[in-house]
Amino acid sequence: MTRTVYYTATSLDGFLADENDSLDWLDSQLMDEHGPMNYGDFIVDIGAMAMGAATYCWVRDQLAVSGEKWPYDIPSWVFTHRDLTAIADGITFTSAPISEVHAAMSAAANGRSLWIAGGGDLAAQFAALGLLDEVIVSIAPVTLGAGRPLFGRRWDLDLLEYNRNGAFLCARHAVRPPALTELP
Ligand SMILES: NC(=O)c1ccc[n+]([C@@H]2O[C@H](COP(=O)([O-])OP(=O)(O)OC[C@H]3O[C@@H](n4cnc5c(N)ncnc54)[C@H](OP(=O)(O)O)[C@@H]3O)[C@@H](O)[C@H]2O)c1
Repeated sequence: MTRTVYYTATSLDGFLADENDSLDWLDSQLMDEHGPMNYGDFIVDIGAMAMGAATYCWVRDQLAVSGEKWPYDIPSWVFTHRDLTAIADGITFTSAPISEVHAAMSAAANGRSLWIAGGGDLAAQFAALGLLDEVIVSIAPVTLGAGRPLFGRRWDLDLLEYNRNGAFLCARHAVRPPALTELP
């Protein structure tokens, strides 16, 4: 069965970005691109990805400044209720039910894993339906005090693996399935 993974970096106090959607606290941290749980090894097994509109707009705006191209060559779903413009082929905007999109992503990934890139509420929506298997976080040694939460709600996980990569504590967790009483 297709594995669905929320892979992201977070502040020590559990934020994906600060209140202004800035990642400057993250970009300044040292990470070994060949070290444990590195992005290169992760993305090799990814066949499709999903993200929320805020994450998409952040990436889009960064690329507009740098002049670089969309860095993903896998089918990508962006959850939004707005009429956004795709900056590359393979981007699908959707407000369809999570389970429908997950099924479409699984078909497109053809046996490879699915990446939920964020944000935290979107990852929690997948978890609430029993459609999230793992959370892999690179924890930066910085606290922000406020910002965009790593996960949109309380959830129990099991620690499977941890290691140090540069400045980061990297940890892989299994997501416990939702209680039957919580399923819609
Ligand atoms: N630290 C990292 O590595 C990392 C990773 C990912 C993201 N980030 C950053 O963290 C921040 C994420 O922000 P966030 O958590 O607030 O937002 P987000 O999940 O990226 O986007 C939230 C938006 O997604 C749309 N959305 C979510 N669920 C939906 C659903 N079921 N159906 C339709 N649309 C849905 C809505 O967009 P509409 O308002 O258009 O309806 C919602 O306002 C961004 O700044 C991003 O750059 C950091």
